[in-house]
Amino acid sequence: MKFTVAIDGPAAAGKGTISKAIAANFKFAHLDTGLLYRGVGKKALAYSRTSFYPEISEQLALELTPEDLLSDDLRTDEVAQAASKVAIIPEVRDVLFDFQRNFANQEGGTVLDGRDIGTIICPNADVKLFITASAEVRALRRFKELTKNGHKVSLQDVLNDVLGRDARDRERTVSPLIAAEDAIIIDTSHLSIELAISTAIEAVTVKFKVK
Ligand code: DC
Repeated sequence: MKFTVAIDGPAAAGKGTISKAIAANFKFAHLDTGLLYRGVGKKALAYSRTSFYPEISEQLALELTPEDLLSDDLRTDEVAQAASKVAIIPEVRDVLFDFQRNFANQEGGTVLDGRDIGTIICPNADVKLFITASAEVRALRRFKELTKNGHKVSLQDVLNDVLGRDARDRERTVSPLIAAEDAIIIDTSHLSIELAISTAIEAVTVKFKVK
């Protein structure tokens, strides 16, 4: 049996939490594809803090190891911005493509979350979810998380970062962030996390039952 759930959406919309909850509920394997781009972004930052050269970024993607994805500091905003810059480079996306496809093609259930899963990586996924929320709500969530962890940031700066990353992810020419035509859209702006999770699980259950 193979069953693939593709989950896309902008930063801080709740994709990660929902993907993990689906994987745990159905005992599916989960791949957070953003980590791949964050791994390359972090290497690119170590190489140069100002420029993101295509040929070097491609090489950095080729050199990515499983250990690179375990690093604690992949979750910083600086790495997120670098990830969204290397994600524009087609050569980088090509290098990461096979790994994601192979993950989705393994036996059993899989959940992949990212920006182009339902459109490019798994166009034939059994279920496609597009998790979204307003930029203001996403910035506020991120602001609360950062402040809780002791970071001194302003809400306006966090909102600017969210808007900057949204623009880069949506407007790039290769694999832009866009909902697949057959995706179920879940707007979490006014949903509690519990309700967002149960809505997503219900959508997957409906498809899983008839498989
Ligand atoms: O999901 P995330 O915030 O960890 O992703 C970080 C960046 O990586 C995101 O801004 C764009 C890029 N990305 C991508 O282009 N395609 C994916 N499938 C996943 C992430």
